[in-house]
Amino acid sequence: MKVLVATQKPFAKAAIDGIRQELEGVDYELILLEKYSDKQQLLDAVADVDALIVRSDVIDKEVIQAGENLKIIVRAGAGCDNIDLKAATEADVCVMNTPGQNANAVAELVFGMLVMGVRNFYSGSSGFELKGKRLGIHAYGNVGKNVARIARGFGMELLAYDTYCRAEVINADGIDPTISVKTLYQHSDIVSVHIPLTKETRGLIGKSILKNLREGAMLINTARKEVINEPELLQYMIENPKFKYMTDIKPDIHDQFMEKVPNQYFTTPKKMGSQTVEANVNAGIAAAHQIVDYLKNGNQKYRVND
Ligand code: 3PG
Repeated sequence: MKVLVATQKPFAKAAIDGIRQELEGVDYELILLEKYSDKQQLLDAVADVDALIVRSDVIDKEVIQAGENLKIIVRAGAGCDNIDLKAATEADVCVMNTPGQNANAVAELVFGMLVMGVRNFYSGSSGFELKGKRLGIHAYGNVGKNVARIARGFGMELLAYDTYCRAEVINADGIDPTISVKTLYQHSDIVSVHIPLTKETRGLIGKSILKNLREGAMLINTARKEVINEPELLQYMIENPKFKYMTDIKPDIHDQFMEKVPNQYFTTPKKMGSQTVEANVNAGIAAAHQIVDYLKNGNQKYRVND
């Protein structure tokens, strides 16, 4: 069996070594396509492989159809919004993710950005402490849970809202569940966004949600840029000069944020949430393991398409 690892944003070497070990242990061949810049390279590379491991790489219908022998795609990570799931189902290709494997890395970056935000970008002016502040966790999945764990160490109060996670589950972790997104934003000093990108969440965070925030609130986004209505966020920031937006996914209108609200805005130059050796190793090896387990034993535990 041939397994292609296609990553525009490459894994750490330790992750590739682990993937190789996992695959060579069952006589599967590893093919690497890293830092590719042209879609044609991906179309050529996928042509004769049985399995594909990707990160945020766009896997559309054309790529799926180019993989004539393709049986499984594993997204080494959580969000599968980069993969055309319908096209995969139509082509009889199984799609999986590796839930939780990079969650701690993303959660740690939330606090990296959070401290930077409350300390006014280390500008020399007096900032605030996290202790005693209310952190609203917008979606209580694997990343949200890790954020909650770390926040307790800072002495923060915790609130969470999740459309799909029952309030009792959130409550059982000692966190106050809110009854709506609106109440989450109303009662938080800082909101950390962890919603996946779906039809329902695209552009969700705009003026109707932002207007509920308290003066001086902060929004941290390590999820997806598409869940933000960027023009409405920018307008809100212009009207609320104490509000800050910290993001790990550069907005489409980055230049406008830089021009109009430079002291309220920070973005990482490249999405860095899961870019740790540990997360690469965890997610990469889990992906290789899931491929072997699917092809040899038919295990579909982490399947995300129909
Ligand atoms: C995910 O969905 O797992 C995270 O957003 C990480 O994405 P990345 O692998 O592209 O860094």
